[in-house]
Amino acid sequence: MTEVTTAQKGLQGVVVGNSVLSLVDGENGRLIYGGYKIEDLAENALYEEVVYLLFHGRLPNGAELQEFTAHLAKEAVVPAQIIDFMQTQPKDTNGMAMLRTTTSMLAHYDPEAEDMNIDAVRRRSFRLIGQLTTLCAAWIRISQGKDAIAPKPNFNLAENFVYMITGDENLDRAAVDAINVYQVLLAEHGMNASTFTARVVTATGADLYSAIVAAIGALKGPSHGGANSEAMKMFLEIGDPGQVDAWFTENIKSGKRRIMGIGHRIYKALDPRANILKAKAQALAQSSGNGTWFELAAKLDDTARADDYFIERKLYANVDYYSAIVLYTLNIDIDMFTPLFAMSRVAGWTAHVIEQLGDNRLIRPDVNYVGPMDLQWTSADQR
Ligand code: ACO
Repeated sequence: MTEVTTAQKGLQGVVVGNSVLSLVDGENGRLIYGGYKIEDLAENALYEEVVYLLFHGRLPNGAELQEFTAHLAKEAVVPAQIIDFMQTQPKDTNGMAMLRTTTSMLAHYDPEAEDMNIDAVRRRSFRLIGQLTTLCAAWIRISQGKDAIAPKPNFNLAENFVYMITGDENLDRAAVDAINVYQVLLAEHGMNASTFTARVVTATGADLYSAIVAAIGALKGPSHGGANSEAMKMFLEIGDPGQVDAWFTENIKSGKRRIMGIGHRIYKALDPRANILKAKAQALAQSSGNGTWFELAAKLDDTARADDYFIERKLYANVDYYSAIVLYTLNIDIDMFTPLFAMSRVAGWTAHVIEQLGDNRLIRPDVNYVGPMDLQWTSADQR
């Protein structure tokens, strides 16, 4: 008989299986995708190379990369009916709500939507990775009252994203580079809440779209991907680097609030992605000529790191903290920060769906019933 144990609240410390996709080494602040250090990938890789690595277990050679990049660009086209639908929606619709709905709608136009054969799922995964980039860019424009722009077959996904939001074929290379690094850093991260959600849905035998839509829902929360926009709102609320100390005392020392973008279930050392994004945010702040938000964020980070409460609990900036500054400096609407996380993490979600399908079993934990027993039934008019 299987031994029954009750897991810690939040399933902390529970390992649910094996994966070849990534190592999140929280004690040492290391992140590895398929054998490669995140620092090397962020410095050198195209997002397409990381996607290829996650799906093939190795990096592509030059010809393979060229072919794969062109394939993802071709797959990024979204049915016109979905763009038309977006045009009919209230302009203030939440970005994650729009992405959740339109990702679900993609299934309506996919004749293979219900086919869970691994080859079909892999094909559809590549399409989804392309299409989520287009859905995000389209909503950025449509929510601003502009027309959506279709992706170009000769651009990679980061280039296409920048092109589709600006309409300018003369690409801003610094913006393309920042989006590519962001996508590389956010592509995959072990058994995080949204990936676990995608695996739970897949394990029931449901289709790929259901898994990805559910993952988008899990990512939306402020304890997970929603923290990037919450962090930016917090920086704006503080308003000025000179206000950091007073804000920290009033909101954090008092125990009233948490610093958004700080703390992590697994990392008890600095999240290596935060380091890379901090440098990126600083470089962008310098080149944009507006260093206020970077200065403010760095000051709050330093204040927390010097505080006993944060030291004792090993609370460090996570990926969402400095990515908020990067995305804000690129003029992305705050409401679209979390959708950009989703358009990057869709690589990891889909790769985990495939891994789950390769060795599937229903994921179904148990719960201890602690409610009342032996109550006597009375009819409604007697209660
Ligand atoms: N600010 C202040 N205190 C914090 C913070 C924070 N950001 N994060 C955790 N703590 C404190 C908690 O109050 C708790 O203190 P206690 O032991 O005295 O009660 C202790 O640190 C542990 O916190 P838990 O909530 O138990 O840790 P858990 O692993 O469950 O939560 C989480 C992790 C949700 C990320 C948490 O750190 C948090 O809320 N951070 C802010 C939101 C955020 O940035 N989320 C993004 C995470 S990264 C990602 O998903 C992409």
